[in-house]
Amino acid sequence: MTRLSGVTPSGHAHLGNYLGAIRRWAREGGPGDLYFVSDLHGMTISYNPSRLRKLARESLAVLLAAGIDQERVFVQSDLVREVGALTWLLECTCSYGEAARMTQFKQKAEGQGMVRLGLLTYPVLMAADILLQNATEVPVGQDQTQHVELARSLARRFNSTYGEVFTVPRAVMAPTAARLMDLSDPTRKMSKSTQDNAGVVFVLDDPDLVRRKITRAVTDTEDRLEYRPSSQPGLANLLEILAACVGRSPAEVADDFSGYGELKTAVADAVIEELRPLRTRALELIDDQHTLDKIREAGAERARERGAHTLTAALRMAGVG
Ligand code: TYM
Repeated sequence: MTRLSGVTPSGHAHLGNYLGAIRRWAREGGPGDLYFVSDLHGMTISYNPSRLRKLARESLAVLLAAGIDQERVFVQSDLVREVGALTWLLECTCSYGEAARMTQFKQKAEGQGMVRLGLLTYPVLMAADILLQNATEVPVGQDQTQHVELARSLARRFNSTYGEVFTVPRAVMAPTAARLMDLSDPTRKMSKSTQDNAGVVFVLDDPDLVRRKITRAVTDTEDRLEYRPSSQPGLANLLEILAACVGRSPAEVADDFSGYGELKTAVADAVIEELRPLRTRALELIDDQHTLDKIREAGAERARERGAHTLTAALRMAGVG
């Protein structure tokens, strides 16, 4: 089995990225797995190049600090030739309608002055990341499952049109925290690119700030402390966070509390403890440029080598290269 997944350095990694994805990559990762920083994906909306580079380093440090083996990480742009080439093959396998249907494209395109073509084709680049490495499982949060479905369709279509080359991957989701919501607006997904950061806990936030953000989380007017995501989304989100930290179900943890104050203190304590070792290690790594560079270089070489055969075979079958 090969698991593969990535995080885009379009902002600082947040608690949703960590509990919904990165923590699982570290815990469940096997020797054949690959996890990467998808910096090319950070170019699909307006961005600052030096900030992107800095955030890519930070994200690599976060993956390592979370406990992912250094032999399993890489940075996507180090494979730009390989994924770029495969993206082209897959763009010529994908219909415009399929790409334009993607929910995330529609959401992100709204309100953008200039909609970059890369924003439309980004799920195809994601399919290239996955198919290049013959991934069997793609552990992601809920918002990425539609993109993994597209990768499945493209793999199947390419295989049946040109010959069997690609492994057909499947998305796997965390049982809890697969979609954490913004603490100040629990109807909105917790996101790196939200303008107002008050409801987004970043994994490198200092403990006092984490506590402040959680204490100020919007809850609901009802008093009943039960896990009911549709009628009490703010409460449900806090319960999900706590449940993910302590390894229980949200409905179960709800039974331990009789008031919001008490619950928020428990959530803040659990999150701070969960993030403490990650934060310490990540900050050390960010300061250690030499170590990060070496890990990045070795990772790039390994991932490139691993994908070379599939890329050559796919090009040949498609009648080029
Ligand atoms: P990205 O950087 O948006 O998110 C990284 C991972 O975190 C999950 N996630 C969440 N989980 C729970 N609650 C949330 N609020 C939340 N927000 C994000 C995401 O589902 C994801 O698993 N396109 C991808 C990166 C990527 C990729 C790939 C993933 C590039 N190529 C190939 C898998 C396979 C992205 O931007 O994720």
